[in-house]
Amino acid sequence: MPDLYSLGMEHGLLYETIITTQNRDGTPNAAPVGVVCKNESEIVLYLFKGSKTYLNVRRKKTFYVNISKDPLLFVQSTIGNLDGEKFQKQKSGFSLKDADSFFRAEVTHERIIERKDQLGTSTMNIVRANVKEVVEVNQHAEPLNRAIYGIIEALIYLTRIDIVSEDEKNKNLDKINEISRVVNKVGGEDHKKAMKMILNELKVK
Ligand SMILES: Cc1cc2nc3c(=O)[nH]c(=O)nc-3n(C[C@H](O)[C@H](O)[C@H](O)COP(=O)(O)O)c2cc1C
Repeated sequence: MPDLYSLGMEHGLLYETIITTQNRDGTPNAAPVGVVCKNESEIVLYLFKGSKTYLNVRRKKTFYVNISKDPLLFVQSTIGNLDGEKFQKQKSGFSLKDADSFFRAEVTHERIIERKDQLGTSTMNIVRANVKEVVEVNQHAEPLNRAIYGIIEALIYLTRIDIVSEDEKNKNLDKINEISRVVNKVGGEDHKKAMKMILNELKVK
């Protein structure tokens, strides 16, 4: 049976996926959502209240997770509604026709919390779900994790730091610090180690 590890996911990493759910009126919905791989058959996601995905997952307790690196799918499912013809009807909802792989997830536990940050208070549902019916369409595709892109960006800023103005240097340092926050949130041990090496190198600059 294919599982999350056979799709290329690793324990503890956060992947950018597109979650497909069914609206109350039966129509499909798609939205990009980060999915943490807990083990080969379990995921966790953090759903902010206010989205259709939040409501649909609360109501149906099942959803599909689509793996893709298609930029247009990500943009179209964020801005407005993804075209109906992009969906594939499944037994318990919808997947995306052009996904590299997808699986159905079944909610096992939900915890609704209030989160305070500089933007105010928001409500989120921390959803645990079991992985069911994994379908691998493109065997060579990897799930999307942002950590390596962050490290490459941070390295580019690092190599430019000696050749830019003091003002630009400070901007680059802010960007590297923000990248470090993201890498530590979404990455694995090697990503975090790599980021630490970049931060250490900055100290001696
Ligand atoms: C790459 C990416 C990752 C996202 N991850 C999450 C997430 O983990 N949780 C969440 O609630 N929203 C997340 N969002 C925001 C939702 O996708 C966005 O609010 C969307 O418009 C909700 O659409 P819906 O109302 O059709 O569900 C993410 C957006 C992007 C672009």
